[in-house]
Order: sequence, then C-alpha cells, then structure tokens
Amino acid sequence: MTFPVSENTARMQTSSTFKAMQAAANLREQGFDVIDLTVGEPDFPTPRFIKDLAIEGLEKNITKYTAAAGMKPFIEAVAHFYKAQFDADVSPQQVAAACGGKQALFNAICTLVGHGDEVLIPKPFWVTFPEIVNFTGAKNVFIETEETDFILTAEQVEATITGKTKLLIINSPSNPSGRVVPASEMRKIIELCARREIYVITDECYLYFVYPPAEVFTAAVLPPDIRKYVCVAGSFSKTYAMTGWRIGYTIATEEWTKEIIKLQSHSATHPTSFVQYACARAMERREESMAAVAEMLAEYKRRRDWFIPALNEIEGIKCPMPEGAFYAFIDVREKIDGGKFKVSQDVADYLLNEIQVVTTDGAAFGAEGFLRLSYATSMENLEKAVERLKKLFNTASQQTAN
Ligand SMILES: Cc1ncc(COP(=O)(O)O)c(C=O)c1O
Repeated sequence: MTFPVSENTARMQTSSTFKAMQAAANLREQGFDVIDLTVGEPDFPTPRFIKDLAIEGLEKNITKYTAAAGMKPFIEAVAHFYKAQFDADVSPQQVAAACGGKQALFNAICTLVGHGDEVLIPKPFWVTFPEIVNFTGAKNVFIETEETDFILTAEQVEATITGKTKLLIINSPSNPSGRVVPASEMRKIIELCARREIYVITDECYLYFVYPPAEVFTAAVLPPDIRKYVCVAGSFSKTYAMTGWRIGYTIATEEWTKEIIKLQSHSATHPTSFVQYACARAMERREESMAAVAEMLAEYKRRRDWFIPALNEIEGIKCPMPEGAFYAFIDVREKIDGGKFKVSQDVADYLLNEIQVVTTDGAAFGAEGFLRLSYATSMENLEKAVERLKKLFNTASQQTAN
C-alpha cells in the first residue's frame, strides 16, 4: 500500500535545490574536487559575541518553555531595534518569534490564505513561497518581471491583480536574482496593494545585504494605515550567519500576530529559549551587531565586484550586477541550442559532470534559462570556478571559430 499522504502535503513538491546539493555531495564522495556554488548560507561563523550570549543564556538556565509569541525580552528587543535602526514604530505586541524566516513565512501565509484565494508571487521566486501557498490550497499567480530585469514594479503588480487576489509576497533583496526593488518602488507597490485591500508579506531575510547605492528598505517603516496590510518576515539566519540556530520573527498588526501565535502554539511552540535570549541581547548591542553585518557585507561586496564582471567574460553568459544578497543569477539562454542543451538543467548537469562546478537550475525558481551561483563561498573557490568555466566555454567557442 502506498502511503496515504494528506491532500495538503501532496500538493507540495520536494525542494529541487536540495537535488543539486546532493549531486555535489555524491561527486565529492567519489573524490572529485567539487566547487559547490549552490550554498544558500553565509560561509562565515556566527559572531563570537552571539555565541557567548547563547552560552550565557544556558548558564542562566534559560532552558524552559517561553511564551508562544517569544519571550518578552526578545519581542521587546525586536521592537526597540526597529525603532533605533530604522525609526519604525513597532510595538512588542506586533512581534512574534519564529523558528527562522521560513516558519515566519509559513505562519504568516497559513493564517491568511486558503481555498479560493489567489497569491501573487513575482518571478523568479524563492522555491518555498509557492509550496507554502500550495499547502494552504490557495492558488499561485506568478508575475513576470523579466522585462524589468527581475525588478518588480507597481505596474506589473497592478496588471496581475484579480478580484480573488488576497496576498502579494515580495522578497527583496531576492533569492535567487540578487536584485533589489528600489525603496520608492516598494512604497508604491505596497501602497497600491493596501488601497486594493490586498495583503503584502515582505520576506526581508537578506535585508542588510544591500550594496550601495541601493538602499536598505524595511516595510516596517510604513505608516499604520498601510502597515495594516503588511507582515514583515525577518530572520537572523543570513544577517548574523546563524542558519542552524533557527530563529526569525514576524512583524504584523496585533490581530494578525495573535493568529500567528495561535498557529505557532500548536506547532513549534516557540524558537529555542536560550537562542531567543542571545538574539535579544545581541539586538540590544546594536552597534556591535551592525558592525558584524558590515564586515560580512564588505566581504560579499568584494566577491561580487570581482565575480560578476568575470562571469560576463564567459562566452554565452550574461549577468547583470545584483544589488543585494549573495547570488549571481546568470542567463545561459544563448547556450540552449536544442541539441546538447535543451533546457538550463542540461547546462547545470554539463557543468557538474565536465568541470565539477555545482549550480542551481533557474527553472526551480520559475526562470528557465538561468542558473543561480552563490558567492557565499571563498574568493579562491570563485576564482577556480571562473577559471574552469572560461576553459570550458571560451576554448570551445575558439575551436568552433577556427
Ligand atoms: C528568500 C529566503 N527567505 C527565507 C529564507 C529562510 O531562511 P531561514 O528559515 O533560515 O530564516 C531563505 C533561506 O534560504 C531565503 O532564501
């Protein structure tokens, strides 16, 4: 008998980004010198002072249940941090702790939409958005953004709204494209949605990883009449290189937050108590926290500034300069010839087998013809990857020309 999986779960697909990671692991086991550019997490350690704060929390025996919303010092620290950092008026009652940005998004989406609702998701999208929507029974409606180089505009949102649209999910800086929607356009988009009584979830997982002159923008700064429709999904994972700690939060209206807490109280309950403690204390030490972020940002920028121009020197590869996050989203459509390469997955497989450079197919993110390359890896790895790519493609084209 096959397992009688529930309808909700059957509608979800397994994450295809894990397949590439698995392929890389298999090759490595066989002894190949693999360059893994699939990694969606910082290659830095968690800052020392945050690790010490978690140890301090353990020593203080902060090891028991907390409120489902998160412990008071945590939700207060989030509210104070947003005031100090962004001059945003956030009350602790508008904050709920979550086990990472992913759970924050799951809570926010599941408490709002269901059968009969439509959810707008700009392409290319982070793979988890449509799967959570599938779980709820609502319908995904994708917004094409290629015309504007994957930077969402209010016009594109407006053209996709129907009478059933209940929610828009925006992720800027974006995984996978690294593109950033300018602050003025974000305001326009969210104001438009609020006017039409459409809710907006902003996935601000890469909030601080924005390269000047692009600006950091959080929807938490919007006025209350607009924020009535907004839920910010925040995460410590990328910001402080804490992916394994599993901590994030939502910022929404008190009513929405109450529903989020209700849902969470019957699932994860709350993120780990001493992790909440460490994050609360780290947010109180805002300057130290932001200095740690600035250090990582400077290193990502150094890599980006070298990697993107280098990629553009490879035959048949195009990549605009991403304004944020740590991904290069390369256009390989010139390579797709209907023969050896029918789809971008074939290009990814070729890179894997020929030069052991592991990338993620853009089709997983709703962008066939593209590959995602993470630069959350050492400069040495990036240099090696480019060298192998140039040898493979630039030599091949010279041979064809001769
Ligand atoms: C766009 C985006 N949102 C949210 C997350 C969730 O991160 P976490 O659950 O670790 O906070 C990720 C992780 O890769 C991401 O890329």
